[in-house]
Parts: sequence; C-alpha cells; structure tokens
Amino acid sequence: MNMLKGTLFASAALGLAAATPAAAQTAEVLHYWTSGGEAAAVASLREAFEAAGGTWIDSPIAGGGGDAQATVLRSRVLAGDPPTAVQIKGPNIQDWAEAGSLANLDEVAAQEHWDDILPPLLRDIVTYEDHYVAVPVNIHRVNWMWINPELLAQVDAEVPTTWEEFNEVATRLQDAGITPLAHGGQPWQDATVFETVVLGIGGPDFYRAALVDLDPDALTSDTMIEVFDQMRTLRGFVDDNFPGRDWNLATRMVMNGEAAFQIMGDWAKGEFAAAGLEPGTDYVCAPTPGASGYILNSDSFAFFNVEGEDRIAGQNLLASLILGPEFQETFNLLKGSIPARNDIDMSGFDACAQQSAEDLAAAVADDSLVPSMAHEIAIPRAPRGAFLDVVTEHFNSDMSSEEAVERLLEEVELAQ
Ligand code: GAL
Repeated sequence: MNMLKGTLFASAALGLAAATPAAAQTAEVLHYWTSGGEAAAVASLREAFEAAGGTWIDSPIAGGGGDAQATVLRSRVLAGDPPTAVQIKGPNIQDWAEAGSLANLDEVAAQEHWDDILPPLLRDIVTYEDHYVAVPVNIHRVNWMWINPELLAQVDAEVPTTWEEFNEVATRLQDAGITPLAHGGQPWQDATVFETVVLGIGGPDFYRAALVDLDPDALTSDTMIEVFDQMRTLRGFVDDNFPGRDWNLATRMVMNGEAAFQIMGDWAKGEFAAAGLEPGTDYVCAPTPGASGYILNSDSFAFFNVEGEDRIAGQNLLASLILGPEFQETFNLLKGSIPARNDIDMSGFDACAQQSAEDLAAAVADDSLVPSMAHEIAIPRAPRGAFLDVVTEHFNSDMSSEEAVERLLEEVELAQ
C-alpha cells in the first residue's frame, strides 16, 4: 500500500510541477549549418541555450551558402509563420527590417554593451535606422586557399602568391596526375571563386567598383575580361565530377589527398577541425593569390516578430548568449571563423584564425577590406543573382570572356 501511496504522491508531485513551469524560453531556429563543422558550431549554440533553460526547436535547411534557406524563410514569413530566430546576413537584414518584420534588440544591446564590443563594420550590418535588429556571431574570411602540403611536395611546389604561379603549379600537378582544384559546381561556389579572382587580379578598388558599386565600366573592363580568362583557366583544373558537389565534399578531397587546393571561405576550416586536423601539419591555409585584401562574410541571427511570451523570452535569451565572450570563443573555434567581438583573446585560436585577425586589422588600416558579394554582404539578392547566373553559365560553357562581361552588364542592369 505504502509503495502505491508513494507512487501516487510522486506522480501527483510531478503533475503539480508540470502544471507550473518556469517562465518558458522557446526558440525555433531556422539555419543552414548542416555540414560537419557547421553542425558542431550550431550545436554549441543549442547547448548554451538549453543550459540556460531554453527550449530549442531545430529547423535546419540543408544547402551550403543559404539560398535554399532564404527561399524557405520567405515562404514561412508570407504564410504568417516566421521562425523565432533565423541565421541571416547583410542586405537581407536591412530588407526584412525595412519590411517591419524584425524585433528591436536595443534593450539587450544596451545591457550587453554591443556598441563597445562590435567593430563598426559589423554594427552597420546589424542595425537599421540606428536600431539593432540582428546580432552578429562571427567574421568569416572568403579569400582563402586550403592546401594539401603533401601533394605540393610531390611536384616540388611552393604555395603560389600570384595567379600566374597558381596556374603553373596547377599544371605541374595535373601533369603528375593530381587534381589541382577541388570544387563544387554550384552557383554560390562558382561566385566564391570568382570574387577571389576579382580581388586578386583587380585589387580592392576594382573589386568595390565592380561588385559593390556595380559600375558599368568596371563590369565591362579589360580587367574583368582578364578575370573571366582566369575563371576559364580554373575550369580546366577541376575534376570531371565537380558539377553539383557540396562544398564540404570538396574540402574532404583536399583532406584525403584527392586534390591539392580548394578555394573557399574559412568555414572549410571548421571541416578540418571536425576531422581533428591541424593547420600547418595536416593542411595549409593561405590567402588566394594576387592583390592582398580581406573579403568579409559575417553570419548573424535576426529575430522575427512572433507571438507568445515564451518565444519573445527565447529571443532575448538567444540574443544575450550569442555575443557572450565564452560563447564567442567556443562557437568560432568550431565554425572556422573569428569572433565578432573585438575583445576576445586570440591565443586560444589556431594560426589560420590568428592570421585572419591580423589580416583583417591590416585590411581595415589600408582600405583593402571588401564585403563578400557571393555571401550576401555587399549587394542585395537581385544583383547578386545576376553575378551568380553569369559566372556559373560562363564556368559551365565555352562562353568567351568578352561575351561574359557583356552578359554581366545586361543582367546586373536588369536586376537593379
Ligand atoms: C556561408 C555562411 C557560412 C557557411 C557557408 C557554407 O554563406 O555565411 O557560415 O556556412 O555559407 O554553407
């Protein structure tokens, strides 16, 4: 009897407890971080959120670069069912803020002193009409090469610093039966390679004229023709199975010695980290060839206007966690990026991350810091789409460089 009574009491107590939950903090999070390194990074945010009492509802949309996720987000908002929080970037934040869809984060920003800890370049991305409407979680650099040192050694090659040197090393690799360039044939990946070539051949001022200001003379210049010539050369260095390959599978080719180089942002470093590989020994990172500079990409989280005290509490908890100093180190070590906060001790990061932080400071100082077009920092989705369309069509056809620049001007002007 006592046992039964005890059981009844226990279940009643549990019932009581369930009837009066603590103030719930719930967040449904829409993101596209599904590769090894990305998943480990977003899991660290989920763990921090749940440890603080939050209930995390995961809504991953596979598809590197985020174009698939952006489509889902638009349909969700149009259906009147926005997610609590979404991984979002650049002008998209401004567009959603202008539509009145985003929560104002000024209160948590003041409590957490965001004005003091964010570099101006990030503050500009996450504020709209001087109000905080998103919170940045990292700084990624796009213009990196990820290199298998053993394959370079097989052809007695050094890390190339100009595109001419790259082409010469790639030809030697190819003659030795080694795939020079691991690449995934998807528009955002083609555009990622393209913008590193624009910076390397044209330099930061040309990059800004062409990919930020959309200047017609820059878009149709001899320099842009030279850029498409180099893209044609790079097309000759990829393997036959590149079409449609996911970016992280290309990274794995470098890891496994199936290819010598990958040109990709430093989220690729998150894949090496997830595989337990160390820079300097297992792989080498180096800025893409040509003019020095820093192509910046930064991920943020924005919070849509939603119903329910628990969701609003969940938004406030997430926003306060993301720029916390401990979380900034944990997340960015896993993601391959560097912290969005400007006061994090970088001694716990690897040599590639430390070089990224140093090169970022140098790029701010000499005005060679440029926003990524491929990763939705520089320009709105429509003109970005024009670049992706033309660059991908050129890469996958025998279109001449002269025709490519004419098409680029037409499509960019149509998209504005
Ligand atoms: C970028 C994003 C990165 C990384 C990459 C591959 O646009 O900013 O965080 O995930 O796509 O999916």
